Amino acid sequence: MSTPKAMTTPRALRSRRSNLAVPGSSPKMLEKARGLVADQIFMDLEDAVAPLAKPEARKNIVAALNEGGFDGKVRSVRVNDWTTQWTYQDVVEVVEGAGPNLDCIMLPKVQTADQVVALDLLLTQIEKTNGFEVGRIGIEAQIENALGLINVDAIAQASPRVETIIFGPADFMASINMKSLVVGEQPPGYDVGDAYHYILMRILMAARAFDKQAIDGPYLQIKDVDGFRRVAGRAAALGFDGKWALHPGQLDAANEIFSPRQDDYDKAEMILDAYDYYTSAAGGAKGAAMLGDEMIDEASRKMALVVSAKGRAAGMARTQTFTPPE
Ligand code: GLV
Ligand code: MG
Repeated sequence: MSTPKAMTTPRALRSRRSNLAVPGSSPKMLEKARGLVADQIFMDLEDAVAPLAKPEARKNIVAALNEGGFDGKVRSVRVNDWTTQWTYQDVVEVVEGAGPNLDCIMLPKVQTADQVVALDLLLTQIEKTNGFEVGRIGIEAQIENALGLINVDAIAQASPRVETIIFGPADFMASINMKSLVVGEQPPGYDVGDAYHYILMRILMAARAFDKQAIDGPYLQIKDVDGFRRVAGRAAALGFDGKWALHPGQLDAANEIFSPRQDDYDKAEMILDAYDYYTSAAGGAKGAAMLGDEMIDEASRKMALVVSAKGRAAGMARTQTFTPPE
């Protein structure tokens, strides 16, 4: 029997509105990433790095992580997937070399829960051997083909290290033979809806069922910030927590789109305070109460908690406060 959600312990909620991809083969880009406004930096050893450049890229990444300067950012490294010959060396070299300065390993092209378990076991051995805190390093699981998608529920539950489920649209489109070369845009000939809706929702349901973050992948037309906004806006509207950025020019848009609007954030905090007050003895121990013209109850509190958590994680400050009636 699977574990009910209330019995699983969620890991700390990190803000991941913008996830900047940085090729591990470029010390210059690794250096530049420190000063950018990304919530997360992921240093790539996979598709942005040519096979011959991978050994050097591992060294660059270890050096960049140990040098530091990524304060406040989530630091992730994308290794190669388990069907290649590189994964174990990627993990061993990066984690042994820079484990305490690393937050997550991103595993691409995850197809089965076993692949996550294998990474979990390897991480645990490296942590034990090197005296690192066991279990601290998280796993980000990227879903990039049909098998990964149909197994996404098991993948989300495969290890308590899993923090995010990420959609990899470019590989996914290729793997299902979608008739389009433009990532994020609708395939020509399909004019009756959003061709990505099912995939995004499937990932989102697994993420929400097991307290993981849902992250949308890249938008490749890096000069088209309006296009990025449109595609990011759809994922954000469904409930996704963030999106990749392939270029610094996409960061402001991602941070804005995946943050609550200021008035929604203020309202969420007011609902939480008002609900706390009205359910207390001083407020009359009520189950439902009025906040302005709106009736609030336990379900309102749950919705407010989501917006409030996202706003707090993004460092937002409230501009209104709730004052109990005289
Ligand atoms: C990202 O890895 C993608 O395939 O879209
Ligand atoms: Mg990919």
